[in-house]
Amino acid sequence: MTRTGAPRPHPAASQPPGVSSPSSAPPSGPFRRLRSALSLAGLAQWLSVPALTAMAAMLTRDDDVSTRLQAVGGTLALMLLPAVLLAPLAGPLAGRVDRRLMLMIADVLRLVIVVTVPLVDLLAWTLAAAFLVSCLSLLWAAAARSSLRALLPDEEPRAARTASRAVFGPAPAAAVLFAVLALIADGMLGRGSRADLALYVTAGIFALSTAAVAMIREIPVTAMAPVPAPLKLLFQGPGTAAARGTGLAIAAVSLTAGAVVAVARVHTGVLGGGDAGYGTVLAGLAFGLGFGMFLGPRALVPFSRRRLLGLAVVAAALALVVLALVQNLVVVVFMTAFLGVFAGAAWSTATAAVTDPDAPEDARPVAYLRSVALVTAFVALIAVPLVAGALGAHRIELGGGVYDVAGSGAALLIAAVVALVCGLPAYRRLDDRRGIPLVPDLCAALHGEVYTPPQAAAEAAQQPVHRERGVFIAFEGGEGAGKTTQARLAAIWLRDHGYDVVTTHEPGATKIGMRLRAMLLDRDTTGLSDRAETLLYAADRADHIANVIRPAMERGAIVVSDRYVDSSLAYQGFGRQQPVEDIARVNAWATGGLVPDLTVLLEIPPEAGLRRLPAPADRIESEPQDFHERVRAGFRALAEADPDRYLILDASRPQGELSREIQYRIREILPDPVPAGTEDATSTFPAIRDF
Ligand code: TYD
Repeated sequence: MTRTGAPRPHPAASQPPGVSSPSSAPPSGPFRRLRSALSLAGLAQWLSVPALTAMAAMLTRDDDVSTRLQAVGGTLALMLLPAVLLAPLAGPLAGRVDRRLMLMIADVLRLVIVVTVPLVDLLAWTLAAAFLVSCLSLLWAAAARSSLRALLPDEEPRAARTASRAVFGPAPAAAVLFAVLALIADGMLGRGSRADLALYVTAGIFALSTAAVAMIREIPVTAMAPVPAPLKLLFQGPGTAAARGTGLAIAAVSLTAGAVVAVARVHTGVLGGGDAGYGTVLAGLAFGLGFGMFLGPRALVPFSRRRLLGLAVVAAALALVVLALVQNLVVVVFMTAFLGVFAGAAWSTATAAVTDPDAPEDARPVAYLRSVALVTAFVALIAVPLVAGALGAHRIELGGGVYDVAGSGAALLIAAVVALVCGLPAYRRLDDRRGIPLVPDLCAALHGEVYTPPQAAAEAAQQPVHRERGVFIAFEGGEGAGKTTQARLAAIWLRDHGYDVVTTHEPGATKIGMRLRAMLLDRDTTGLSDRAETLLYAADRADHIANVIRPAMERGAIVVSDRYVDSSLAYQGFGRQQPVEDIARVNAWATGGLVPDLTVLLEIPPEAGLRRLPAPADRIESEPQDFHERVRAGFRALAEADPDRYLILDASRPQGELSREIQYRIREILPDPVPAGTEDATSTFPAIRDF
């Protein structure tokens, strides 16, 4: 595990300080203009969803509830249909035309279609418009993706991220805008033309987006990325058993979200909310989804990801139960938002779980999950309004009380039960901590710990782990980054789990080292040459290795060191501007080539780090700001050159969060076999490889 082979030059040794990764390059002017134009078109596209459904609801306002439900559900289903059936055709079709022209054609045609809807004033045309607008949106999204890639040719992941932000990001804003427009229309327009305003505003935003694209002079041509057919992916299956189990979970959450959207317009009408209420419910869902996606990977870090996914599904289904039963608009809005948070968290957890960390570019499992979500939502948009219409409204007498149950509420309840029926087995299949009670596991995770059943913990404490060769973990970072604290916390945590741990530091962990440290850090030491400084640190390190680290490693202990070779590379190499390769060579000789199994790099801007230090500063701390800037850039360059060995953390984050992430990463390199109790405590890996 620990590499002690022949000395090798550090991979980053020849990298100049301050080299920034390509992702930090500022975006170009055309790229920024395109991004803004696409966000406008994205806003119009999302605004068209409630606008067209509100139109369908308005055109059927004099019909029975069942007809209204089907008109709204049908409009939504027709908007999703192109993504289900025609997704693979969009790329090749859009690729026939110049990208910029394609974006403008899609915007202008969507504008014309949307404007004609209130003028024609017919349900059939509203339905056709929903389908056509979505077909054009598919072409637009394909052209948008390839345009962003063309303007960022070397940064494929960044272009993909920007494209999905431009396409999905404006959804919450569109829902809020729709609610505001509905309030304005309620006050200003007559009963028969309340939905018109949102449609005209949609058309107006499409016009702005067209003008914005027209101002971008040229977009280079790139190949269109192929998009797999959702139905084909569904029939081909997920590829792994893990993705299949996760697929069941995603189907359940997609059903809950699809069911709410399907009946939201009519249900809010029954509760007296009208279009403004409808917009508020959609805004709750959109914000909830976004927040949930953000929260998923960050919430309850020590908790099993599989358990979290299962729990999120069950929680989304329970939110739908409350939403269906409580006939109050405010409760419905909040429950929809909660449902969105759980669904979003389930989505981000599931996609992270099926992505193989060794082959992150294999997008097939995620494409499979997307297909599951899409097709389930499509089925929900058709089935839930049909069921709601068939059930109709009923008055139920129960326990002396009389309850009015709307068809939409009953259909939502049925959808919630179906989601629970899928969600509970999904949770059981996903659970990788069987036998460990859920509540204490969850409580421990809330306190940032992994729950170990008392009996297993006692067993672990009685048998410290001994191995032939130990594990070496180094903590690195600039001044005031909090390495010492984090190294201490990690050592305490490891000892709690029964490991034999040696904590140490550089410079000055041995008797000779203490004298060297005094020379190195005393501000009275003047005129010390850079080379002498480098060699004194290397001498301290050689003594440290011989007398502390090597003996501990040989008896199988885990060594946690506050600073190691990287400090010399960063301070004496990058900071003092000496050849980093030479310093790497000297240190490889001094250490016999011992490289840590894991280096935790705590990153902090020098001015913030130095502010944290108690005065007076030592000889190195009192170096000028640009020295510390170079040290920081040096550490980053070293870490980026060997990402497998480093954990880079933003040291300004809360201490508890940092130690959780550190524990999580240390678990990956802990020796095997481990005692039973420790195994329980360390089994919650983020990646789901297989069942
Ligand atoms: P110390 O008081 O241990 O500071 P810190 O809390 O930041 O670890 O002092 C160590 C100082 O020595 C620190 O400023 C960094 C510097 N140093 C080097 O310049 N090169 C090295 O190889 C090492 C180990 C430390």
